[in-house]
Formats: sequence, structure tokens, C-alpha cells
Amino acid sequence: MPFLKACDSKDVVNEVGTCVTVAGKKLALFRADGKIFAIDDTCTHDEASLSEGTLIHEEGRCVVECPWHGAHFDICTGAATALPAVTPVHAYVAREVNGAVEVDV
Ligand code: FES
Repeated sequence: MPFLKACDSKDVVNEVGTCVTVAGKKLALFRADGKIFAIDDTCTHDEASLSEGTLIHEEGRCVVECPWHGAHFDICTGAATALPAVTPVHAYVAREVNGAVEVDV
């Protein structure tokens, strides 16, 4: 699958999640440490929207804390790093090109 445009670069603000739909997939985009990250938006515990979560920098990685019950997901790998979620979310390769955010879905 090629990279597809998700949104304009300016729509992804530093440290704040943005929810987009690309190729029918609901994704959470984050800008942190100068990079763009994309993971599935839906928490694997109980379907909260991870783009509404809070970014936390811990132990050399950046995680999003689910707004409902506090599970953590690594925004780089999608790994579930704190309960109650145990199943990872999918992480996607994202990039910025000519003022747009593109995601390899
Ligand atoms: S819905 Fe995300 S931790 Fe429960």
C-alpha cells in the first residue's frame, strides 16, 4: 500500500493527538520529539479514542495514556505498556511531505 495523505502538517500540533481516517482506518496521529507517529485510534481495552489521550515521556519512549482507564501504548511501536490493555495497537509509518502528513496504511 502506498503512503496516503492523512491531513495537513499544521493539523498535527506538538504533543496533542489528532484523529484521522485513512483508507477506512481510524488513526491517532501525534507529533513528539520532532517526529510524526501514527497508531490505531481505538484502544484495545474498551474502544476509547487514543487521540484524546495524554502523551507521557517515560524511560526514553513516548506513550499515550488512554483517556478512559489509563492504559499506555508506545506511540512508536503500538505496544501496550501499562494495564488494563494487554493487546498492542497497530503502528504505522508516517512522514511529512510538502506540508502534508502521509501514512503507510
Ligand atoms: S478503554 Fe482504554 S484503557 Fe480502557
